[in-house]
Amino acid sequence: MINKSTIDQVYEASRVEEVIGDFVSLKKSGANFKGLSPFTKENTPSFMVSPVKQIWKDFSSGKGGNVIAFIMEHEHFTYPEAIRYLAKKYSIEIEETQQTEEEKLLNDDRESMYLLSKYASDFFEKSLWDSEEGKSIGVTYFRERGFSDQTIKFFKLGYSSDKIDVFSNDALKNGYKIEFMIKTGLVISNEIQKSNVDRFRGRVIFPIRTMSGRIQGFGGRTLSSYKKTAKYINSPESDIYYKSKTLYGLYEAKQSIAKENCCYLVEGYTDVIQMYQSGITNIVSSSGTALSSDQIRLIKRLTSNIVVLFDSDPAGIRAALRGVDLILEQGINVRVCTFPDGEDPDSFAKSSSSSDLKDFLINNAKDFIQFKAKLLLHESENDPIKKTSTVRDMIESISKIPDIIQQEFYLKSCSEIMDVSEEVLFSAFAQENNKKHRNKNVKKYQLPQTVLKKTTPLKKINDLYNLEKQIISILLQYGHIEAEYEDIVVKPNEEGVLIESFEKIKSKVYEKIFLDLQEDEIELADPIFRKLFSQLISAYQTKADSAINKLIFSNNSDLNLVVTDIIMETEKYFLHSWETKNIFVKSKTKDIGQLVSETILSLRKNLINEKINDLKSELVKDESINNKDLLEDIMNYNSLKKIVSNKLNRVL
Ligand code: CTP
Ligand code: MN
Repeated sequence: MINKSTIDQVYEASRVEEVIGDFVSLKKSGANFKGLSPFTKENTPSFMVSPVKQIWKDFSSGKGGNVIAFIMEHEHFTYPEAIRYLAKKYSIEIEETQQTEEEKLLNDDRESMYLLSKYASDFFEKSLWDSEEGKSIGVTYFRERGFSDQTIKFFKLGYSSDKIDVFSNDALKNGYKIEFMIKTGLVISNEIQKSNVDRFRGRVIFPIRTMSGRIQGFGGRTLSSYKKTAKYINSPESDIYYKSKTLYGLYEAKQSIAKENCCYLVEGYTDVIQMYQSGITNIVSSSGTALSSDQIRLIKRLTSNIVVLFDSDPAGIRAALRGVDLILEQGINVRVCTFPDGEDPDSFAKSSSSSDLKDFLINNAKDFIQFKAKLLLHESENDPIKKTSTVRDMIESISKIPDIIQQEFYLKSCSEIMDVSEEVLFSAFAQENNKKHRNKNVKKYQLPQTVLKKTTPLKKINDLYNLEKQIISILLQYGHIEAEYEDIVVKPNEEGVLIESFEKIKSKVYEKIFLDLQEDEIELADPIFRKLFSQLISAYQTKADSAINKLIFSNNSDLNLVVTDIIMETEKYFLHSWETKNIFVKSKTKDIGQLVSETILSLRKNLINEKINDLKSELVKDESINNKDLLEDIMNYNSLKKIVSNKLNRVL
């Protein structure tokens, strides 16, 4: 774990405009910067950075937050990865918190393995470009495959010499331990002969990277045509390389996948590289293993649209179909694309122009379920037994889709394609579902009691949400300001009779809100607002003016996004027509007191209404029992409502 003081240093040193400036070209615009959204395709800038508040907001995607949120969003880093990235940029040394001896050893080991892998990758790359063997065999091979020098360098492709221990000798000389060479699988140890042998010999090298770009393993392709050698060998699994959690090309493709909101999936290294060179940059491969659900989850962080690119041979297609059910299960939209006879994605990309390739993919990507139905039907034509199993097969795929509306759509379209009546399909489908449920013994399709009971219309909930949001917004913007409010004060007059009168009261906005809500024992219903509320109040109580900054730099990303949204909502006015709209901000600061009273009263009224409705529905339900108390409660709340409404009318 990274030490807290390192994290603080990172926050202090990082300037949001500098960090974002590395990725987005920013232009000064008033007090802010603006630029083109890095998350969507747009022509007019709607991406805004505030150097004063140290936050950013992308109005076209709705994303926003502090500097860490940007790095996490843009580079798809985890929180610690983002901290490390910024620490590196600002030359801050990272201190780790105390770890157990065991954890420390494991982390040290893994770090050593990463460092060694980086060293190996550089070594192989150098061998490719600088050694005679590398140039004459490796570079020639890649160029013949159609890879440009730029592409070879971009993917850090390399070459490993034919000799038995060139790499391990070099690494040993440079202080790397044999232990880690064996653990990463770069070297194979022969216990009996007490000798060590490089794993990748006489092969061109494809380094495999983690999602954040570190080298974690290698693939190597032989260049000899000797039949007995495996065409490809790969690093074995290790503490830094889990095959089922790795996608080749993901580091290079992740931004483009998010931007295009679509991911192409191919079989191997060469397909990825060739496609990438031809301009299809949102592309990854599962390299060497069957597609796993962990790999799909990696893609799902970026998009819920996958297009699987199949080789043309039918056996390959049939085998690949099974993997696709796994994708369906995760609620991802799957399309498939096949290539003309004898072609695979690699060869097809090599032989077509970039624009032809793009057109081809767009025109030939077919909906997966419909594709599968047609394919299977074609194979089972005139064979009723085969056709039955085809129907079963289709139903199994459709039952994997989590969305029932989509399921229904597919059942209907399959009925058409396969010429089976809808009734038969639907009932077979129900059978399949029953079977599944009986097996799992699940009850999860029953709505929880509370949901069934709740009869409040949605709009009320939204009113409440907006009011709570407004409370937070007021606290964020004006919490520390002193304002004047009118309130009913009950005092005895000269004759000792209690009378109500409206009086002006002065206090800080956050105190007024806090005390008023406490008086009614009101807690905000939305969990995020509730958290924000208590953090804001305590921030104001300790150090009145920096409450917002404190929150923006807290590392709770839920809160950050909400805070950023609320602050930026007012800033938005400046983005497009700053001259014409600048009246807005002035007039808003004028009657803060009124705004506060109005908001609190509306919230109270809303809650009272809800309470009354609840009581009324209880009244209807329990006709048998004594309802006197209930009726009395309702009356009391009604008169309370009247008072609140009166006050509200006065304020408005
Ligand atoms: N692949 C693999 N292991 C194998 C065969 C293939 O991992 N034993 C993967 C590789 O990632 C490769 C992809 O599948 O890039 C495509 O396979 P293939 O066409 O056989 O490999 P190429 O190197 O393209 O060979 P060829 O030049 O014969 O097409
Ligand atoms: Mn090939």
